Amino acid sequence: MRFVDIDHLEEGMIVGKDIVDLNGNILLRAGVVLNDFYIERLKEKKFNGIYIEDEISKEIIPSELIPPLLKLKMIKTLQLIAEKEISSDVSVKEVKEIIIEIVEELTRTDAYLNIIELKSLDEYLYSHSVNTTLISLLIGIEMGLNKYDLYNLGMSALLHDIGKKFIDQKILNKPGKLTEEEFEKVKMHPILGYKYAKELGFSLLVCSGIIDHHEKYNGEGYPNNKKEKQISLYGRIISVADVYDALISTRTYRKAFPPHEAFECIISQVGTHFDSEVVNGFIHRVFPYPVGTIVQLSNGMVGIVVRNHRSFPLRPDVKVLKIKDEFVDEPYLLELTKNLNITILSSLNDFTNEKSNSIADTKEKNKLIL
Ligand SMILES: [Fe+2]
Repeated sequence: MRFVDIDHLEEGMIVGKDIVDLNGNILLRAGVVLNDFYIERLKEKKFNGIYIEDEISKEIIPSELIPPLLKLKMIKTLQLIAEKEISSDVSVKEVKEIIIEIVEELTRTDAYLNIIELKSLDEYLYSHSVNTTLISLLIGIEMGLNKYDLYNLGMSALLHDIGKKFIDQKILNKPGKLTEEEFEKVKMHPILGYKYAKELGFSLLVCSGIIDHHEKYNGEGYPNNKKEKQISLYGRIISVADVYDALISTRTYRKAFPPHEAFECIISQVGTHFDSEVVNGFIHRVFPYPVGTIVQLSNGMVGIVVRNHRSFPLRPDVKVLKIKDEFVDEPYLLELTKNLNITILSSLNDFTNEKSNSIADTKEKNKLIL
């Protein structure tokens, strides 16, 4: 299967992967044939895109970072904390237990982010916090943090934006540019989150990541204009994960960026916004061209990413589909690690594959939901 962004979905495409909401309900099932109604509904919900299944991508199965049920459990835990009034019975223990489970899952195998998460804007706060946690943990693992630090980092990342529960939702969801006064209010969320987490009984280490996640390496962040290593390690890690996930998400004021553009944006801000050691961890665990991405190559070829290599994030294995606008008869494998004269120029959102529709015709037209 391959990822197609929301603006390039077409009638007749086949859904490759179940689309599930925050409660685990299936909105659109794998195998359903897209029609205009479904596409409109996906657009209304501001999904970033979906995975589709077609001839050229049939052998590609993007691997989930953690089992979907575990992700749902994380969201439930976070909802519990975000929607609760301050009280003593929200337990640090519950959050810690789920984070331990996540860390075990991520350290059991060689985990990396090689998939584009499907998400709608409605669920932004929760899905963003969960993804920020997963990316922060991948970075922490790559940096060699011990389990104790990974648990604290995970809790800190899951709660990094918890202070937003105290900010007016109208400001947070405003489609246009914020006024200076509104922005000043939003900028309070790291401090409010820090205080809230402290009252709930989270350790100062956990709270350090919450208060520091908008600080910048050059001292131009907020709320305390800390710079370099004055910013806690967790704050420096969460800041990279937070910005990356925000960039690849649809927001009220713009659509999602493709992963490789977000990846370049992170790298371009090493030393100004981000710590180089942290970004080094990031680039070894998050792939800019997840499997199933259609890419334009510098020699005029177009292909689909079939495999990634940890040490060479910009040089995946690609199945060649087209050479200078002509479809090849038999797609074949091109290993960019062995063809150093060829580079990826960009990912292609508007790739259309004539073969897709013929499969759609033969598929049973399942009924659906959404
Ligand atoms: Fe934040």
